[in-house]
Amino acid sequence: MWVELVLSAALLFLLWQVLKKPSDLPPGRWGLPLVGYVPLPFKSIRDHIRDLYKKHGSIYIWRMGVHNIVFLHDQKMAREAYTSTDFIDRPPWQIFCINEKSPKGVLGSNGLLWQNNRRFALRQLRDLGMGKSKLVAAVHTQAAMMVEEFEKQAGRPACIPHAMSVAVVNIIWQMVGNIQFEVSDPKYIEFREAVDSVMDSAKNLFIYDLFPWLEKILPTSILNWICHLDLVEDAKEKFFHYFKEVIAEHKETLDRDNPRDLIDTYLMEMEKDSPDSTYSERDLCFLILDLFNTGSLTIRDTTVWMIFYLANHPKVQEKLQRELDEVLPRGTLPSLKDKPRLPYTEAVVHELLRITSLFGLGGQHVATRDTKLGGYTIPKGSVITSVISEIHRDTRHWDNPDDFLPERWITEEGKFSAKREGFMPFGVGKRQCVGEGLALMEVFMFTVALFQAFTFTPPPGKLMDLRPDSNNPKGNNPRLMQEVVATVRQ
Ligand code: HEM
Repeated sequence: MWVELVLSAALLFLLWQVLKKPSDLPPGRWGLPLVGYVPLPFKSIRDHIRDLYKKHGSIYIWRMGVHNIVFLHDQKMAREAYTSTDFIDRPPWQIFCINEKSPKGVLGSNGLLWQNNRRFALRQLRDLGMGKSKLVAAVHTQAAMMVEEFEKQAGRPACIPHAMSVAVVNIIWQMVGNIQFEVSDPKYIEFREAVDSVMDSAKNLFIYDLFPWLEKILPTSILNWICHLDLVEDAKEKFFHYFKEVIAEHKETLDRDNPRDLIDTYLMEMEKDSPDSTYSERDLCFLILDLFNTGSLTIRDTTVWMIFYLANHPKVQEKLQRELDEVLPRGTLPSLKDKPRLPYTEAVVHELLRITSLFGLGGQHVATRDTKLGGYTIPKGSVITSVISEIHRDTRHWDNPDDFLPERWITEEGKFSAKREGFMPFGVGKRQCVGEGLALMEVFMFTVALFQAFTFTPPPGKLMDLRPDSNNPKGNNPRLMQEVVATVRQ
């Protein structure tokens, strides 16, 4: 009897030792092996994160499925981690590499292939766009097209016109493949449906990422039914079929002395005989997919939020319009050299990026070796993520963080100052957003074009609902479908 009791106690003790969270790890939620701590669905992820922050402070761990996820609420700690080579890689998650055995493109890849693609994408964005007139001209054209479409629905409550989605896609296509869609082009619908089906089908991949052992215990049909692996594969191949046609056309008409766009330049890189080359046609498809995934709806959503925020803040809208009227003749869009003369417009754009925090969570990176952060051990394989939405509301950096106050970006001399600790809508460090310059330029130009032409107000007797979608810290907010009134300015 005593022997059994002692043995049971020893077994329980051993089990507890195996299951408990090692003491040198950050505090947080540990849960059970293989499943971790699965959140209950009636509470939003945003609320869970706020509770954990209140309980544990700026760094805590949440074991989800088989992964240790470390959340960072402190901008200094986030900067330290994201600039360290220990955290340079993406986790090998299907959600990033879209079910590709060896990840390609730039968003989900690692190592030499990532370095080559990131350098290539940055060079392309620099050569074709940021600061160069070709892409600025494309943005001007799309802004003018958007204004025309808003005119058609002026004076009455209406949703944001579909033209805005076409405009942002056209800007990426201009850079990538020298292609443009008309607003009512059926080919645009076909293209949009192909992008959406990749995005939609990829939504359940996180289940596979968190519980990869499901593959070992479930028949393929059930695994596919839960994680949509087969749907992702179909959608991806359909999408790539579309790209392959465009790439084939480019191959036929390639003029090596006059590369027209990203595809031409990539094809020329493929022809180079370099031992470090990672370029391939399949990789090009992934790179293009990444640029559409990261660079189109982000801009559309930010512009929609700009309209909704300014509709609810008429004084800010009036001040912005006064500045635009003083600096630019009506209907003229600014060149980049006009930017310094529009400090309030710059301030509004930055304040909007802060308060909306389009990506509530920063990019997920993985620890490539056992390392230390904030005095805690971070074991190899742990995933880190900054909580951008909370860093953007941290009272150490922002007075009255819940207020929309563009003035906080203006110096005593009346100039715009972008240097703010605790501002990181595009992430920080080695994998900081590749399209930051393009994004800032697009949102700036669209804001000028739209608010020169229209005054935006909520529908009569209403206010715009500006709450973020708390269950969806990564975006795709259904509140973007609200109606708003655009009145033509006299
Ligand atoms: C308002 C608009 C945008 C926001 C808020 C935004 C934000 C971000 C964030 C937070 C990351 C993750 C960084 C990390 O993992 O540490 C990221 C990555 C990335 N973004 Fe953006 N982005 C925007 C627009 C764009 C545009 C217009 C493009 C391209 C044309 C773009 C291309 C990328 C790419 C390729 C990456 C992956 C970089 C890498 O892994 O090396 N983004 N972005």
